[in-house]
Amino acid sequence: MRTSNIVALGFALILFSLPGAVLAKGNAENGKKIVESRSLGNCAACHVVPGMEFPGDVGPDLAKSMEGYTERDRDTVRQWVWDARQFNPDTIMPPFGPNKLLTKEQVDDVVEYLFSIKKKN
Ligand code: HEC
Repeated sequence: MRTSNIVALGFALILFSLPGAVLAKGNAENGKKIVESRSLGNCAACHVVPGMEFPGDVGPDLAKSMEGYTERDRDTVRQWVWDARQFNPDTIMPPFGPNKLLTKEQVDDVVEYLFSIKKKN
C-alpha cells in the first residue's frame, strides 16, 4: 500500500471512530419509554412532552426547549437531566443521576430522545 493510502485510511478511521468515542449516544426509543413512564422519568408531571396527555406545566415544553440546543450542547442537556441543581440550586426538578432515579445509560437514552423531539425549523 502506498503511504498516501495509508494516511488516508488513518484519517478515515479517526473520523469514523471519534464521534462514537466522544459522545456517548443513547437509545431514543428507550428514552421515550423512560420519559413517559410514571415510575421512571415522570417528566410529563412537570413538562409538556409530545404525545402525553394532561402534562404538568411547572417546567418548560421540552420540544420547545430543545429548539435552543444543538448537538454541541449535548453535555448541557445531559447535565439538566442528570442534576438540574447545577443550573438552578432551587429547582424542583429531581436530580435523576445523584438520587439514582436513572442510571447513566438511562440518562443518555433520555437525552437521545430529547434530541429526537427537537422541533426542526
Ligand atoms: C417536579 C417537576 C419536574 C420533573 C419531574 C422534571 N422536570 Fe425538567 N424541569 C423542571 C423545571 C421547573 C425546569 C425549569 C428550570 C428550573 O426551574 O429549574 C426544568 C428544566 C428542564 C430542562 C431544561 C430546559 C431548558 O429550557 O433548558 C430539561 C432538558 C428538562 N427539565 C428535562 C426533564 C426530563 C427529561 C425529565 C424527566 C426525566 C424532567 N425534566 C423531569 C421540572 C421538572
